[in-house]
Amino acid sequence: MSVAIVASSKGGNTKKVADALTEALKAKGVDVSYSGSVPVDGAPGAKEARDAVEAATTVLVGFWTDKGDCAPEVAELLSKLSGKRVFLFGTAGFGGSPEYFERILGNVRSHLADSSELVGSAMCQGKMGPAVRHRYEAMQAEHPDDARIQAMIDIFDAALSHPDADDLSSIVRAAEDALGI
Ligand SMILES: Cc1cc2nc3c(=O)[nH]c(=O)nc-3n(C[C@H](O)[C@H](O)[C@H](O)COP(=O)(O)O)c2cc1C
Repeated sequence: MSVAIVASSKGGNTKKVADALTEALKAKGVDVSYSGSVPVDGAPGAKEARDAVEAATTVLVGFWTDKGDCAPEVAELLSKLSGKRVFLFGTAGFGGSPEYFERILGNVRSHLADSSELVGSAMCQGKMGPAVRHRYEAMQAEHPDDARIQAMIDIFDAALSHPDADDLSSIVRAAEDALGI
């Protein structure tokens, strides 16, 4: 088994998970031939990443949640993973509900090439940028009694500590189980 780990991460949360997976799999003696960004046309390292994915038998693909789905470059990569074993890992700002994660994973899975084999998937919460809280605060100033806005602020604050050590170890465990190591 040769493994490539690629992740799309704007703010660093998903990269943190990818780094934990890389470290854990290497420590178990797995041949992790590549760990880096999901290839984006024209971006530095895109060819190296594509070649590494092409050469690997198993690909761990990390995504940040973009409007309930993965970002377009992740969707494109997933559609090209014919014949590969794939483990999906993701982070989302609105965590805490397995059903919500399952809905996102359903959307992300739908991009996978038909002949790829999904061996497992796992998600955790990931902190959001400060602009999001500022937007909620502005909404709350206009609608001070709206409980839904307060709930969104509470979720934002709860996300600040994620991914935490528990998130990392449970995703690592899920990947190890999925890969049978
Ligand atoms: C444009 C944009 C859209 C987002 N859409 C969602 C979403 O639909 N659901 C969600 O739970 N989080 C959403 N988030 C939050 C991110 O998915 C979350 O903070 C993630 O951990 C970011 O990962 P990163 O640090 O690896 O980029 C969104 C963030 C951005 C910037």
